[in-house]
Amino acid sequence: MDLMNKNLLKDTSYVDGEWINANDGSCSEILNPATSESLGFVPNCGSAETIAAIEAARRAQSIWSKTDAKERSSVLKNLHRLMLENQEDLAKIITLEGGKPISESIGEIAYAASFFEWFSEEAKRVYGDVIPAHQHDRRTLVIKQPIGVVGCITPWNFPSAMLARKIAPAIAVGCSVVAKPAPETPFSALALAYLSELAGFPKGLLNILTGDAERIGAVLTENKDIRKITFTGSTSVGKLLLKQSAESVKKVSLELGGHAPFIVFEDADLDAAVDGALIAKYRNSGQTCVCANRIYVQSGIYDAFCERFTEKTSGLVVGNGLEEKTQQGPLISNNAMRKVSLHIDDAKNKGATVATGGNPHNLGGLFFEPTVLTGVTDDMLIAKEETFGPVAPIFSFENEQEVVKRANDTPFGLAAYFYTSDLGKSWRVSEQLDYGMVGLNTGIISTEMAPFGGIKESGIGREGSKYGVDDYLEMKYISIAGIEE
Ligand code: SIN
Repeated sequence: MDLMNKNLLKDTSYVDGEWINANDGSCSEILNPATSESLGFVPNCGSAETIAAIEAARRAQSIWSKTDAKERSSVLKNLHRLMLENQEDLAKIITLEGGKPISESIGEIAYAASFFEWFSEEAKRVYGDVIPAHQHDRRTLVIKQPIGVVGCITPWNFPSAMLARKIAPAIAVGCSVVAKPAPETPFSALALAYLSELAGFPKGLLNILTGDAERIGAVLTENKDIRKITFTGSTSVGKLLLKQSAESVKKVSLELGGHAPFIVFEDADLDAAVDGALIAKYRNSGQTCVCANRIYVQSGIYDAFCERFTEKTSGLVVGNGLEEKTQQGPLISNNAMRKVSLHIDDAKNKGATVATGGNPHNLGGLFFEPTVLTGVTDDMLIAKEETFGPVAPIFSFENEQEVVKRANDTPFGLAAYFYTSDLGKSWRVSEQLDYGMVGLNTGIISTEMAPFGGIKESGIGREGSKYGVDDYLEMKYISIAGIEE
């Protein structure tokens, strides 16, 4: 990798402040999804290295939990600054290992850094309570304490931001972390570990293990010293981690799959809705959990919406994310390519029309054409499953009640979007959508200042915002007797 700061490129795991190889010396090769070229190798760590990391994290946490809020705040602030100082290089790492267009990677680093800034501030606001006493000689207090060692498992689609969203609140309140980044994108996590050292994180506070997902995940979920698991990824893996964590009754936060409806009412600003749908659909080539996955357009404006949306979609520039003009990078894997093709073929077989795209891109490899499907109906696979790719299926609807019912007819409940200019409808539909997050007249909802998370099979817990520390804290009630003389 051609980086300005070569120190950011680490190809070993990070445990107890040391850069380590796997005990058995084994490695995995990391490929650039845009070119299939090798980016290097990282250690294939397993159970023994995970146990060593947990022990280091336990030792570090017992000291860190006794530090004061200002000290914790200050290392997080340092990390925020260091990330921004290295923004270009860190963004390049994301693009090389994940394929994301460089402008989006630059944005992701700003987004990731913002969690360190936000939680450096929240570190100082972990308040307790004094509750009115139930007896005259008593006083009743509630204090909040760090939960302990946290196991983090993070995805490839936001390799820096999702790690930051978990590490920052944990460190802010006095926890330590053992993290396992996605096998496809380890270099972003290792670069973050390097910067955490410079920021002043004591050894053992943050440990990053690359390697075998199953073996590392099994130890993290079974080990009794891990008191919390936080995971972003697929619903199926989330369910497995929840089951594995049950034995030791860990607190678990899950940010899982979505299947976001994007509803456009006839009274909406049509141009704004088209632009909102473009960003909600094609950010990261459709590979986000909050991607618009079902676009519902009211029948009176259906044709006009489809025409404008298709025109803008067909103008999107596909290419290697390192090229400035690129707006759509490659998909992450052959499996992702297969799922996209499967959803398109199924929709076509059941009567949908391909308005643009529909095929692997002529660049070859993992590139796919941004695709619009019209005349999509609820019996198609794409109406039921998350695609995780650049395919926009457009459904038609007649009225508010009907579209809300169809939007809610899914086991998922992460993000939903709708466009209207009617105040009453804004409130009614916001309240009726069974989702953890609603974008009203916007296609972009992510910010460190708001609670990110879903309901139903899309997850448990919230990340970011003032609520983002709660998952890393235990509440303790203290009853003080003998106050009266
Ligand atoms: C995700 O896809 O999991 C996260 C997207 C975001 O934070 O915007």
